[in-house]
Amino acid sequence: MQVDYNERIPNNVGLADDRRLLRALERWQPAYLDWWRELGPVGAHEHAVFLRTAIGVDTDGWAHFDFVRMPDYRWGIFLAEPAPDRRINFGIHKGEPAWQELPGEYRAELRRLIVTQGDTEPASVEQQRGLGLTAPSLYDLRNLYQVNVEEGRHLWAMVYLLHAYFGRDGREEAEEMLARHAGDADKPRTLEAFNEPTDDWLSFFMYTFFQDRDGKFQLHALSESGFDPLSRTCRFMLTEEAHHMFVGESGVMRIVQRTCEKMREHDTDDVGRFGAIPLTLLQKWINFHYSICLDLFGSEDSTNAANYYAMGLKGRYRETRIDDDHVLAGSTVTVPAVEGGRLASKEVTALKAMNETLRNAYVDDSQRGLDRFNKVIRSFGIDAELRLPHRAFHRNIGAFAGVCAAPDGTLMGEASWKRKRDEWLPNADDHAFVQSLMIPVSEPGAMAGWIAAPKRGIHGQALDYRYVEFH
Ligand SMILES: [Fe+2]
Ligand SMILES: [Fe+2]
Repeated sequence: MQVDYNERIPNNVGLADDRRLLRALERWQPAYLDWWRELGPVGAHEHAVFLRTAIGVDTDGWAHFDFVRMPDYRWGIFLAEPAPDRRINFGIHKGEPAWQELPGEYRAELRRLIVTQGDTEPASVEQQRGLGLTAPSLYDLRNLYQVNVEEGRHLWAMVYLLHAYFGRDGREEAEEMLARHAGDADKPRTLEAFNEPTDDWLSFFMYTFFQDRDGKFQLHALSESGFDPLSRTCRFMLTEEAHHMFVGESGVMRIVQRTCEKMREHDTDDVGRFGAIPLTLLQKWINFHYSICLDLFGSEDSTNAANYYAMGLKGRYRETRIDDDHVLAGSTVTVPAVEGGRLASKEVTALKAMNETLRNAYVDDSQRGLDRFNKVIRSFGIDAELRLPHRAFHRNIGAFAGVCAAPDGTLMGEASWKRKRDEWLPNADDHAFVQSLMIPVSEPGAMAGWIAAPKRGIHGQALDYRYVEFH
């Protein structure tokens, strides 16, 4: 289904036929645009950017590419095509037809899931808002803006669900989405990782590698939902999320590449002197971003998570491909625990371990990414490896909250941990060093010295294409 761009809000959900919903969204739209101007990308309002805009939901040809002035970007509402005769695939309602309307008995739970997901979308725009001032190339600047506008659209996706299915309290939640702000002392974003500053491009690439990957797994779990509008919304968001994954992985990969080149060229690990980012710093950034993202999955032993699954609201990663009964009554699994100051494990019901199950899928996926980075390091004949820290390291939620663990999982006293902290996590000097590399490069085709050029341009364009026009 093609989208009508003559409408104020492009959509494939038949907004024109639902005057009340349309009016509600049109009332929210100016507040959204004010928010974008105030807390969206700094200094970008006059730029024309070579952007992808969603124009439909067909697998081929769902987007078109053209220059867009950022405030004129058409944030629309798109749901993936309905699957004919879709059923609820797990939980106590397994086998029943998927809900096309909000199931009243699960209203509170669904609202919470949608609000939690929705809150992360504008949060990431806010966290990344200053990065446009120091982009390492026009290509990267364009990719940053692409991610930003799509996170904005993801907010639209969640706000649509709130407006369309939750009435007054949905509208109030939609307003709150623009009232909370990343890092705000009084009204912060809901989840901790979405309040962290993202001040440099190493952090941006780590963010899109680790934190957008959390998004990918949450969206997958929600796309399994028995509430069909939520499922369809998330399925379409995942097509956009793939690009965010690409930005993160290829970004870190290009940094690794440049670092290894400099290590070879100067026969030293200490490549900071030559304007590259040492592997030890990459490791610290990995330690930080990975650990705060593990927290996003929630507690290993969670009644809420059990309820979301049993009710058919939030499934597992690729639920329908898993070979079991998808009800899981009576089955148990082992999850990590800390007992008497030692790492241990405990048995919980498979239902209560749902957060951990999703986290496990995330850990595996992250490791596969690191394996690809390590392959590049090896290809230079360099004997070093980037590693995911132990799950107990630097955690704030669940079994490991408040535990002092080294990246290898060794538990220790708080004083020793604090003494070692600066070796494991980015410290003030590390931040200052990375910040010193953040010099904007805006010549078409040119690249900052700390990052290798990408393999190819965007949408068939050359690497030296002028992806952003400054006006
Ligand atoms: Fe998103
Ligand atoms: Fe994303």
